This record gives sequence, structure tokens and C-alpha cells, in this order.
Amino acid sequence: MRRVASVRFLTVAVQCWARARAAVGVCARVVVGGGLVWGQAGPTVRQDVDPAAALRGRAVYTQFCVNCHGALAKGTEEAPDLIRSPLVLRDRLGNELGPALKRLPNHKRDLTNAQVGDMTHFLKEQIENTAKNRNPVRPPNVLTGNLDAGRAYFNSKCTACHSATGDLAGVSRRIPDAVDLQQRFLFPRRTKPVQATVAGVTGDLVRIDDFTVSLKTGAGETRTWTRTDALQVALNDPLKAHQDLLDVYTDADMHNVVRYLESLK
Ligand code: HEC
Ligand code: HEC
Repeated sequence: MRRVASVRFLTVAVQCWARARAAVGVCARVVVGGGLVWGQAGPTVRQDVDPAAALRGRAVYTQFCVNCHGALAKGTEEAPDLIRSPLVLRDRLGNELGPALKRLPNHKRDLTNAQVGDMTHFLKEQIENTAKNRNPVRPPNVLTGNLDAGRAYFNSKCTACHSATGDLAGVSRRIPDAVDLQQRFLFPRRTKPVQATVAGVTGDLVRIDDFTVSLKTGAGETRTWTRTDALQVALNDPLKAHQDLLDVYTDADMHNVVRYLESLK
């Protein structure tokens, strides 16, 4: 029931958002009627999705946000749904999201305005896709794949790091919802820090940007270097294989693998 109600809110909000310019007053009334305050303030010019920016934004989102807010930005047990977030709906080119990222605890504060702007195109695109494609009552069926094909794929691409009788034994008992299971396999959580070696010193990566890189060494001290062309930096991210695989899976591979993982009871 809650789910249905909130999806209905979404549809109303998106329609309103699309018409914001023409009918701000009407929309504000409808949405407030649904118990939410979106639609009262905010600029009147709608942000048209720029597909190139959305693609760049997807990359930023995948790097910094996906682990908590989920593949479709619809939230996880860790973090809220951004597609239904009034803050995101109201945002225009980062005017809400930028300040929010600086204000929210444990959020990345140093994204550039361009990165934040690109991410808003990605989020608006997700909102539009959600409004257009999703069946509002039932969640998508992600168990349409082929079990044997999924097993074969797993044995060829995954067993270097996983085992159906070892770390992933009973994975579908641990993660019983198939949508969550798909999400977790596509975007695993980070349980171990990224290892890095800088100028011969190895440790856990604390931060890296274009200018500096910091590590926490085995002795527990944090060391920071200024990045130059001569400075050697090697990163060893245990989740890199997963990020790379995202470009490799076909939709069929994905569904087959989820079907297989779901059989690991
Ligand atoms: C470590 C997990 C985590 C990561 C990574 C993360 N978030 Fe969040 N985010 C949260 C949690 C938890 C909340 C709820 C916090 C609160 O309400 O105080 C939240 C709240 C938000 C909100 C406010 C939503 C609302 O309607 O109030 C926005 C917007 C947001 N995050 C955007 C982002 C973006 C964009 C990124 C990537 C740059 C990101 N988050 C990365 C955990 C995370
Ligand atoms: C190069 C190593 C590597 C490869 C290849 C790899 N993974 Fe992973 N996978 C990881 C790491 C690291 C994690 C994070 C979990 C951890 O740190 O224990 C992870 C997490 C997962 C999780 C989440 C487990 C949980 O309990 O949350 C699933 C499911 C998963 N991988 C499935 C797969 C599948 C399916 C494939 C093949 C298509 C695959 N992985 C390929 C390294 C790998």
C-alpha cells in the first residue's frame, strides 16, 4: 500500500515537474495534498535532460553514490530513494544538490559544479525513465534468466574470486529479495579499503584527487603526497573487477547470473 501510494506521488510529481513552468500553482496544490511540500518554491524553468551530461553524471554517480543509493537511485537499506526525493525533484542543475552534498554528513564535499550538474542530468533521466517504464504495482521480475546459462557464466567469469560452495554459498538466503540480490551483485558494497602504493609506500587509500593522494600506512599514520607526473601511484581496488564487468554483461548475462545466484540457497 505504501509503495503504491509513493509511486503515485512520483507520477504526480513528475507530471507536475514537467508542467512546472505552465502550472506551478496547480502542481503545488496537488503535491501538498499528497503530504509533501515539493512544488512550492523553485525556479520555474524545467531542466531538460542532456543525454551526454547524463552519461557523464552516471559515471560520477557510479563512483561516489551507487553503493548507498543503489543502481537505479531508488535507495537501498543504507540510504534513501533519490528518485522520489523532493530535493532532487526540485533541483535545477545542482542548485539544491550542490549545497545538500556539502551539508549532508558523510557526503562527498569536493565534487566540482560540473560533476554535480552532470549528476542532476543523470538523476532527472532516472526519474523520467522510472515514470515511463515501471509498472507501478509490481516490482520488476528479475528472475527471468536461464539457470544453466547463469551457472556457466559464473564458472567462466566469477570463480577467480568467488565460489558457489564457499563465500557465496547460501547467498540468496542472506539476500532473499531478488532485486536486492541483483543490485548487490552489480554493485557490491565496499568491505575492504582500496590498497594503494605511492612512491613505494603501500597502505589504505584515504583520498585521491588531481592534486594530492593520501594513504594510511600500516603504522597507522596518514601520509600525503602532491601529485606530479613523476609520482608513481598504483591503485588496487578489490571492486575494480565488478566495475569493469558492468561494461561487459549483456542484459541476458545479468538475468542468467541473478537466476543462478538465486538458486544458491
Ligand atoms: C555511505 C553511504 C552514502 C553515499 C556514498 C552517498 N549517500 Fe546520499 N545519503 C545517505 C544517507 C544515509 C542519507 C540520509 C541522510 C540524512 O537524511 O541525513 C543520504 C541522503 C542523501 C540526499 C538527501 C535526500 C533527501 O531527499 O533528503 C541526497 C540528495 C543524497 N544523499 C545524494 C547523494 C549523492 C549525489 C551521492 C554521491 C555523490 C551520495 N548521496 C552518496 C548515504 C549515502
Ligand atoms: C576480481 C575479483 C572478483 C570477480 C572476478 C568477481 N567478484 Fe564479486 N566480489 C568481489 C569483491 C571484492 C566483492 C566485495 C565483497 C567483499 O569484499 O567481500 C564482491 C562481491 C560480490 C557479491 C556480493 C556478496 C555479498 O555478500 O554482498 C556478489 C553477489 C558477487 N560479488 C557476485 C559476483 C559475480 C556473479 C561475479 C561474476 C560475474 C563476480 N562477483 C566477479 C570480487 C570479485
